[in-house]
Amino acid sequence: MGLPDVMNAVEISSPGGPEVLKPTRRPVPKPGPEEVLIEVAAAGVNRPDVLQRLGRYEPPPGTSDLPGLEVAGRIVAVGAQVSGFREGDRVCALLAGGGYAEYVAAPAPQCLPIPGDLSVEEAACVPETFFTVWTNVFDRGRLQAGETLLVHGGSSGIGTTAIQMAKAFGAKVFATAGSAEKCKACEDLGADRAIDYKQEDFVAVVRKETDGRGVDVVLDMVGGDYIPRSLEILATEGRHVSIAFLQGSKVTLNFFPVMTKRLTLTGSTLRPRSVAQKGAIAASLREKVWPLVAEGRIRPVIHARFPLAEASEAHALMESSAHIGKIVLVVRNEAA
Ligand SMILES: NC(=O)c1ccc[n+]([C@@H]2O[C@H](COP(=O)([O-])OP(=O)(O)OC[C@H]3O[C@@H](n4cnc5c(N)ncnc54)[C@H](OP(=O)(O)O)[C@@H]3O)[C@@H](O)[C@H]2O)c1
Repeated sequence: MGLPDVMNAVEISSPGGPEVLKPTRRPVPKPGPEEVLIEVAAAGVNRPDVLQRLGRYEPPPGTSDLPGLEVAGRIVAVGAQVSGFREGDRVCALLAGGGYAEYVAAPAPQCLPIPGDLSVEEAACVPETFFTVWTNVFDRGRLQAGETLLVHGGSSGIGTTAIQMAKAFGAKVFATAGSAEKCKACEDLGADRAIDYKQEDFVAVVRKETDGRGVDVVLDMVGGDYIPRSLEILATEGRHVSIAFLQGSKVTLNFFPVMTKRLTLTGSTLRPRSVAQKGAIAASLREKVWPLVAEGRIRPVIHARFPLAEASEAHALMESSAHIGKIVLVVRNEAA
């Protein structure tokens, strides 16, 4: 059966609140020579989509203006230079944009087979957080078995992934979150100790629980005064990894502990990185993490599902921060 020329999608009609996400009709993308065309079954929703909708996170040049950084579905066309994938393969894919749609073209190196027994909806929730956590916690943060990780925003899509991945690789995990329910979810996912930051001071808790030693790696999406406070509880040779600044990126910092404890301050953003760099992360995930998903040791946590046309409701939920784990858009109903 031939492919349609036009598809349903959701666009950002102008910068603003969730209501600016509007159903639209767009041409079905044509895959380039090194791309595959995916018939999308489900698309993950991520906080960066919210920032893009607000006009604060422009898509990289040459990228679709449609939001959507990850999908899962079926390959329906393959570029001439693609090897390793063929029509009919069920995949999940990391995108630089364009996921809120019935079809999307994705660079082949950013596609991965759906791991283990995950449903397409679960698989659509994998790429953005798994790529981000791998490259930040394990590549840049160099987390090792036997070390200790502190994850801020433990109940977020990123946080729920980081907790499970760090535990599966043999680390001890602390997580901060904003309610007792969120803390329970973090501990149910394997965190050794979750800290309700509205009730407890995470610096004091970590200090006490580690007998004053501190943690080896901090994964931070909060910024603001979390940065100096996290540096206080980094152990000697500790690594601080910034992936977002929900409470601001400008802080007054005493650099003395950076010198005396030989700390490393680092961070990264995933979206603007090259296809080759994303492909290298994909290869690491396939080799080291896919087997853990297949064993059932890591599994995305889905909080809510919405039909694609109700993407605005999905964004409103994300901005309420009431969710635990991931929010997913169901684009096509298929037996998972
Ligand atoms: N650098 C990268 O490559 C990269 C890639 C993907 C995502 N990110 C970033 O990572 C963060 C998590 O993404 P996600 O999709 O997992 O998001 P998410 O599920 O929406 O989670 C964000 C969580 O952060 C907590 N939070 C703390 N301070 C906040 C504040 N001032 N405003 C809003 N929330 C606050 C909230 O939980 P509490 O109730 O516990 O406060 C909220 O649930 C986002 O900031 C995103 O931009 C970075």
